[in-house]
Amino acid sequence: MKNPYYPNLASPITIKGLTFKNRIFGAPMSNPELDADCNMRKEEIAFHENRAQGGLASVCIGLGIVDAVGRTHTKEVKLYDVMSLPSLKEAANAMHRHNCNAVMELAHGGKYAGARSHGDKSKPLVLGPNDEVNPEGLAVTQMTEEEIYRVADCFASAAALVQKAGFDMVLVHGGHGWLLGQFMSPGMNRRTDRWGGSLENRMRFPLLVIEKIREACGPAFPIEYRMSGAELVEGGYTLEEGVKMARMLDGKVDIIHVSAGVHEDPDVFTLTHPSMFVEHGCNVYLAAEIKKHVKTPVATVGGLNDPDMMEEIIASGKADIVELARQSLCDPYFPEKAFSGNKDDITRCCRCFTCFYNYLTNRTFCCAFNPVIGNELANRSGFPATTPKKVLVAGGGPGGMEAAITAAKRGHSVTLYEKNSRLGGQLLSEEHIPFKQDMYQFVRVLEGRLKKAGVEIRLDTELTPQQAAAEKADVVMVAIGAKQIVPPIPGIDSSKVTDLHALHQSPPALGQKIVILGGGLVGCESAIYLDSLGKDVTIVEMKEDWAADSYFMHKNAMNMYIRDSRIKIHVQTTAKEVTDQGLLCTTPDGELLLPADNILLAAGMRPDRAAADAFYNTAPRVFQIGDCIKPGRVLEAISLGYYRALDI
Ligand SMILES: Cc1cc2nc3c(=O)[nH]c(=O)nc-3n(C[C@H](O)[C@H](O)[C@H](O)COP(=O)(O)O)c2cc1C
Repeated sequence: MKNPYYPNLASPITIKGLTFKNRIFGAPMSNPELDADCNMRKEEIAFHENRAQGGLASVCIGLGIVDAVGRTHTKEVKLYDVMSLPSLKEAANAMHRHNCNAVMELAHGGKYAGARSHGDKSKPLVLGPNDEVNPEGLAVTQMTEEEIYRVADCFASAAALVQKAGFDMVLVHGGHGWLLGQFMSPGMNRRTDRWGGSLENRMRFPLLVIEKIREACGPAFPIEYRMSGAELVEGGYTLEEGVKMARMLDGKVDIIHVSAGVHEDPDVFTLTHPSMFVEHGCNVYLAAEIKKHVKTPVATVGGLNDPDMMEEIIASGKADIVELARQSLCDPYFPEKAFSGNKDDITRCCRCFTCFYNYLTNRTFCCAFNPVIGNELANRSGFPATTPKKVLVAGGGPGGMEAAITAAKRGHSVTLYEKNSRLGGQLLSEEHIPFKQDMYQFVRVLEGRLKKAGVEIRLDTELTPQQAAAEKADVVMVAIGAKQIVPPIPGIDSSKVTDLHALHQSPPALGQKIVILGGGLVGCESAIYLDSLGKDVTIVEMKEDWAADSYFMHKNAMNMYIRDSRIKIHVQTTAKEVTDQGLLCTTPDGELLLPADNILLAAGMRPDRAAADAFYNTAPRVFQIGDCIKPGRVLEAISLGYYRALDI
């Protein structure tokens, strides 16, 4: 039988006798935190199990390291240590509970491995294709032939361990600049022996690894090989050579998984993990070209979040499989919702990099839109409420909406008040910005959930503390947002000064020359949008750096746009006065007049604490949520809305 909504995407595929229930696989994601012995804890297993629950055909756990010398950081599963077996078994079982195939990635950092990772800092051994110094300043030792064979054996015994633990398939990481990718790369592999130089020589090591895994695990155990279809850097291999590599892998592996790029180049990083500034499915062309030349099933990955697009990819034969990383975290129930005709309820990943940033810097998983991520274990007991209560929510921004939905789903009777005619709060500013569409669509998803949960919505109605008290509710949730900061400078009340509401209109009613006062994340994104409309945009920022409040990957992505645009940025520059000509500023070099038809305020937000506090004692329990406490990101608003609603 065919699925009525996505007949191709939902069709099973059998590889080496192993059936995958549909074509949506969970791409490798590693664990932000492990125990002191680098075993997955219950929390990490719950994270992957949560991905498995929503209908993915398989979930791949990222970065199982095959050799102590190949560690790139301290939180990678040790596949070279038999003591990892119990937690691996637990992880495989967790996926199998949901009819989801368990896949483990086998990786080796090669020249990017670090001494901090494997202990002895006095004698770090870092192996790579060549003698050189790595970005950490460590000497990389060129692998001898003996080392190459030893590491190939490490891959094989790691695969055998994973197989013993009950995993259904291994994914060998040969892309993104990891060890096997380093050997494949003409830029990174400068050897002159039989392991470098020609394409055949550069592919010798990856092919040896595959041969060794086959010997160790038997011919029936499926092997997926992740490669970059093209390295996308100067001196790296192109798609033309990527096709030749894929042809050499054809028939030797069971899935050719085509990603893109290498991880050391900040620009390319935002193509490997596509940013919101590139189109969805921007790497599909690589898989599609490779697919024309091989018989082995081909997988594509990168920036996919739309089931219609995925169906088209499979139906048109561009790839046999689509793989999701961030989308599988943003909404693990993506497949189930798509296949049951419920695609409007899918929370689409907006590629904000919240997950990646927090994974790298805070060593935790989280998602701007999905409050459960990183807290999967605790959330197993959230529903339903013991005693249904009357709940009022003041404010229909994302935090208020999430609070209302969660409270209503738990059985409470909820009324949501919004003083404007539309729900969405700050997210309404994204409506017309092309690269923020997924973020804006989130409002629509939340609206759908509000209706489904039975929340009574009162638009154009401001809930005052007096009315709240008169309603005699059990709980009042205050999510009234924050106010824009208006710098107290002469001329600020000029008609040419406008706030971000100007962006609610399309096209915005702004003149040609625009000065944006405030070069934080919001100001910079607004600048990119206005520049794309052909406006002449200048950003004024007091701090030493622009977009200092943005995640660094997102900033890299913005930088790629801004440096090739006409946008001018003045940092360490303070607004002094709005004049008839424009904005007069103070810079370290003296005064500067920036001509402007309009000045757009993006100087940040300030909570109206008095307005929020006025709700205290209007009900037995009063909760505050989101920007009215402290202006933050959607992440904080959603998270607080969700968890406070669980407190009722
Ligand atoms: C938080 C996070 C962790 C990741 N961990 C790994 C990993 O361990 N191994 C790997 O090969 N790729 C890893 N990736 C890359 C993804 O597998 C994927 O190639 C990339 O994110 C693009 O897919 P997406 O747009 O669906 O996120 C990770 C990505 C993210 C966002």
